[in-house]
Amino acid sequence: MSDIEVIKNEIEAQIKVAQDAKMLDDVRVSALGKKGRVTELLKTLGAMPLEERVEFGKKINVIKAELEQQIADKKKELEEKLLNEKLKKEVIDVTLPCRPEVQGRIHPISKIYEEIVAIFAEMGFEVAEGPDIEDQFHNFNALNMPPNHPARQMQATFYVNSDVNKDFDVDNAYVVRTQTSGVQIRTMEKKQPPIRIIAPGRTYRADYDATHTPMFHQLEGLVIDKKTTMADLKGCLYDFIKAFFEVDDLPVRYRPSYFPFTEPSAELDVGCLKTKEELKIGVGNDWLEVLGCGMVHPNVLRAGGVDPDEYQGFAFGLGVDRLAMLKYGIPDLRTFFESDVRWIKNYGFTPLDFSAMTNGLSDNGGLAR
Ligand code: DAH
Repeated sequence: MSDIEVIKNEIEAQIKVAQDAKMLDDVRVSALGKKGRVTELLKTLGAMPLEERVEFGKKINVIKAELEQQIADKKKELEEKLLNEKLKKEVIDVTLPCRPEVQGRIHPISKIYEEIVAIFAEMGFEVAEGPDIEDQFHNFNALNMPPNHPARQMQATFYVNSDVNKDFDVDNAYVVRTQTSGVQIRTMEKKQPPIRIIAPGRTYRADYDATHTPMFHQLEGLVIDKKTTMADLKGCLYDFIKAFFEVDDLPVRYRPSYFPFTEPSAELDVGCLKTKEELKIGVGNDWLEVLGCGMVHPNVLRAGGVDPDEYQGFAFGLGVDRLAMLKYGIPDLRTFFESDVRWIKNYGFTPLDFSAMTNGLSDNGGLAR
C-alpha cells in the first residue's frame, strides 16, 4: 500500500470514530487544513518530475474530494444524532394535568358563541362563514345599499386598498366587513333554498367607547323558503331569546324599524329592569333592544340569485359582544379585548364547561369564579 493510501485509511478511521462536531472538525483540520496531512502531500508536488506530478496530483485530489465528502456525511449524521437526543430529552407529556394557577379560561365571547350556536343548531340551522375582508358588492350593494347610501358613512367603514401599487380608490376598495349580512349573499350564491343558516363572525367599524370597539362580533341569521313568513321570524327569535336568557316567560316586543336589506324591518326588545346598580332581564317595565330583523328585501334575494316571486324569507342580526355583556353583567366592552389575565380569571369559563341545549345552557358550572 502506498503512503498516501495509508494516510487515507488512517483519516477515514478517524472520521468514523469521531463522536461529536468538535472531534470531527479536529480530524478535518489535521487532514485538510493548512498544515494538514493531505495538504502537506500536495505541497510535495512541486518537487516532482512532470509526469509523476500529474498522476500523483490527480490521485491526491480524488482522495481529498472523497475525504471531504465523508466528513460532510459524518457531520450530517452527528447533527441528526444530536437532534434526536435533544428531542428525546425534551419530550413533553401532554397528558399531565396543568398547574391550577395557569389553567386557561374560555373567553365569554367564545362561550356566548357556543351557546348561540347550540340553540340555533337545535332548531336546524347550519353555520355559514364569509371572509373578514369583503368586497363592497357583498358588504353593501347586494344588501340594497347603493354607492351613495348614507349608511356607508354612518357605519364608519374601514376601507382597504385593493392594489397597493395604485392610489387609493374608494370605489374599488375592499372593506373589513362592517356587518355579517354579506354572508346572506354569499350563501344564496352557493346554495338554492331552502336555506337556514347562522353566520357568526368578526366585524369592524371605526368606533370606540364603553359599548363599542373597532372589532366586534355579530351573528347573522337567514331563512329562505317558499312560505316563510313574519310569524316564523317571530316564533324563531322568541324561542331563541328565551333559551338564551334562560327565562321561560320573558316579555318581548317587536318594534318597527328600518334596515335597507329587510322590508318590513323590526327590532326585538326584551323586558328588563334598569336601576343605577343593576340590569335585570325578564322583570320590570323597561325595554332593552337585543337584535334587528325583518323579511328579506326582494332586491337582496335577486342579488343573491334567488327568485323573489318564488321564495321569501327572514333575516336577523345580533351583536354577540352586546349579548355577552347583558347575560354576564360585564359593563365595559373594551375590557373584552385587553387580554388582562385578572379579567379572564374573573369572567372566563372553565374549559370543561360546554354548552348544549340538552343540559340547559349554563347548568354546567357557569362563571368560573
Ligand atoms: N347588519 C345589521 C347591523 O349591522 C344588523 C341586522 C339587522 C342584520 C337586521 C339583519 C337584519 O340581517 O335583518 O346593524
